[in-house]
Amino acid sequence: MAERIESLDWEAIHAEIESLQLSADPVEEQLGLATLGHAKRKHLTQISSLVGHLLSNSLLPNSPNHCTVELGSGKAQLSYWMIEQCSDASYLLVDRQGVRGKYDKRALKVCFHFLDSS
Ligand SMILES: C[S@@+](CC[C@H](N)C(=O)[O-])C[C@H]1O[C@@H](n2cnc3c(N)ncnc32)[C@H](O)[C@@H]1O
Repeated sequence: MAERIESLDWEAIHAEIESLQLSADPVEEQLGLATLGHAKRKHLTQISSLVGHLLSNSLLPNSPNHCTVELGSGKAQLSYWMIEQCSDASYLLVDRQGVRGKYDKRALKVCFHFLDSS
């Protein structure tokens, strides 16, 4: 299997892959404001593009009838920004580790904030 993968024409494959970096406004605001290190900035730039792609493909409807399941949610930073964008939907975060990150707590606060104010 490894030999087959190594024998592929990777230059031709790369040439065919289209790169399209999108963005999501709230994440871009954070990128503009924060004094972030290289790794955090890179992660947040990826998240901005992921949320941008989800929105542009209508995969993140702001509806209580919609539930997004994130498999491998880690510290829930991506989920946090999806919730910032679409707070009426539900989110189910799944991870094999008991990751205690700051973003799941922050995301929950966002949910509770919106539940309290409705
Ligand atoms: C790069 S992190 C995700 C980061 C997250 N998107 C964020 O923005 O905070 C990948 C996560 O996937 C989880 N993971 C990897 N394989 C998994 C599996 N088979 N089942 C469940 N979780 C898995 C890891 O534990 C890790 O927390």
